[in-house]
Amino acid sequence: MQLQLESPLDMHLHLRQDDMLKIVAPLSAASFAGAVIMPNLLPPVDSAERLANYRRAIDAAVGDLTFEPYMTLFFRDYSEGELLTLREHIIGIKLYPAGVTTNSDAGVAALEAAESTIGRMEDLGIPLLVHGETNDFVMDREEAFLSVYDRLAQRFPRLQITMEHITTRRAVELLERHDNLRATVTLHHLLITLDDLAGGLLNPHLFCKPIAKRPEDRQALLEAALAAHPRLMFGSDSAPHPLSSKECSGCAAGVFTAPIALPMLAELFERHGALDKLQDFVSGNAQRLYGITPPPKVVRLHKEEFHIPAAYGPVVPMNAGGTVTWCLS
Ligand code: NCD
Ligand code: ZN
Repeated sequence: MQLQLESPLDMHLHLRQDDMLKIVAPLSAASFAGAVIMPNLLPPVDSAERLANYRRAIDAAVGDLTFEPYMTLFFRDYSEGELLTLREHIIGIKLYPAGVTTNSDAGVAALEAAESTIGRMEDLGIPLLVHGETNDFVMDREEAFLSVYDRLAQRFPRLQITMEHITTRRAVELLERHDNLRATVTLHHLLITLDDLAGGLLNPHLFCKPIAKRPEDRQALLEAALAAHPRLMFGSDSAPHPLSSKECSGCAAGVFTAPIALPMLAELFERHGALDKLQDFVSGNAQRLYGITPPPKVVRLHKEEFHIPAAYGPVVPMNAGGTVTWCLS
């Protein structure tokens, strides 16, 4: 049995820098025609120069493979002049509340103060991508942020807002309330709950932000993904950290899924009789919502047991050592 995907896209990806970038970028480019590249480097990607340098480094790491990096900037106050010159080079600007996740210390401390830049983005048609978590109790952080999305969506009705990596039933419900909200969802949040991370032996390779939630949350995400909900897109949030930063006291947040994402999505969608929805979930919806035309690229998968490697260089993938029923051809 064969499966053919046209220009699959990963709408939320961490490619890192230097040696890590060289290892992980070709793995994404083997599966995807393009990806939205997160800007949470140290220092963050928040100037024309850093953006151009990062884009060049990604292109070099990808080499001859067909892969479009849709670049993002790290949110800060940007003048209209800056936004006018930067906008043709980016797909959007990513807002991190200060301190909520990896490399977000330079994020936004007070959202009210961010509103003048957000207003300029609305006027210039630049999408806002958001890590929607507060500093509340860890299981409640996303739900506590939903009122912020609600307010932003109303106050800036022409602004396209992406709720990144949603993890709760309430977030799926919010999507229905505003036409200018869309969301990404990861592979791991479709598959796991907090139990898989911490219910038995602790599995640091499933530790990420936002943390995996309850079975009813996973169920709501899964139903929306399997139906290719028109405002939901696949975004892996594949976030590699070296083994030494994961298997230690003080484990870094992030799940590495880039090389296994498409085989595992095929397995999941097949199991639920929804393979016909996978194309829209991994490409069609994103193309329509962002108005992008990715490079033509046909990615083929076939039914064959794929053994997930124990590691890719220094990085351990989700389900390392396990098997998947689909394989990249
Ligand atoms: C991401 C990372 O490591 O950069 N970590 C994560 O747990 N998802 C940052 C992020 O997207 O929150
Ligand atoms: Zn991320």
